Amino acid sequence: MTHQQFIKDLRPDRNLGLELVRATEAAAISARSFIGRGDKNEADGAAVDAMRRFLATVDMRGVVVIGEGEKDNAPMLFNGEEVGSGVGPLCDIAVDPIDGTSLAAAGRQNALSVIAVTDRGAMLDASSVFYMNKLVAGKEAVGVLDIRLPIGENIRLLAKALGKPVGEIVVATLDRPRHTELIDQIRAAGASTRLLLDGDVAGGIQAAMEGNRIDMCVGIGGSPEGIATTCAIKALGGFIQGILHPKSDEEAENALSNGLKLDYVYEADELVKSNNTLFVATGITDGSLLNGVRRRGKVIETDSIILRSASGTVRRIKSEYQQENMDK
Ligand code: FBP
Repeated sequence: MTHQQFIKDLRPDRNLGLELVRATEAAAISARSFIGRGDKNEADGAAVDAMRRFLATVDMRGVVVIGEGEKDNAPMLFNGEEVGSGVGPLCDIAVDPIDGTSLAAAGRQNALSVIAVTDRGAMLDASSVFYMNKLVAGKEAVGVLDIRLPIGENIRLLAKALGKPVGEIVVATLDRPRHTELIDQIRAAGASTRLLLDGDVAGGIQAAMEGNRIDMCVGIGGSPEGIATTCAIKALGGFIQGILHPKSDEEAENALSNGLKLDYVYEADELVKSNNTLFVATGITDGSLLNGVRRRGKVIETDSIILRSASGTVRRIKSEYQQENMDK
């Protein structure tokens, strides 16, 4: 084996996405019986459990950089946990067994199961700051937008880059009291809003993907979701910037002592240092990006997407599981 081949074998490759999708499918299927039952912890627990079991069978040497939290609070898929079969490529992994746990528990749209992977050491460990201010858009925004500009200015710049009137620009943001002013500014600029109940990973991906109604996704959401979204954006050739947004002085101090930068614009290449990324998601409930898990007679159907940066491939996968074989 040549040295080059040896190095290549240590990096996540194209087959890994097809393996990882089994884990997001399993998580989505396990969450299915908890959809609309009102208990988000039960739904999340089922998804975490299933994802973890499937990850153990995947040939990779993964370390969870973005997980369910610290070990004591999260018994499984905690930050720093090693996942995979123990042979194969060395990876950093971000897992979100359910992005939109409240959506799934309420039976609302747009809950997803997500895994993102990149080369070992490439993911920014932003776990000590819960929130990140993000700006996400498609490839036309690269070199054009800047999160430091007023939102109205970014809307105007994006409209110009996309060659459409400002009145046709659609900006997604989480529907939160902290965004009241942002929402007013978006509308005052002449654009329209899509207010997300939860789930800004799907919002960001739609902003970066061609042919969607959303042109930009902005505002303060989870930092972990920001890292997972970056893996997808790298595959789609889109734009993302993030600024960490600590909730308290204690969180800010913690961030600084962990080597994170505050009041600093993290570019895509700092959020995820490698251009070798994979992003995999399966719909749990129906949404504008993916359909949710559904049962048709004795068949359980899932709808997934695999994005791979090395090739720019967008792969959509529909799987049918025979229910009678599922527990075997
Ligand atoms: P989880 O379901 O994984 O907890 O996240 C849902 C979510 O809406 C994310 O998509 C988003 O980034 C974050 O929560 C926003 O946090 P908050 O609900 O505190 O505003």
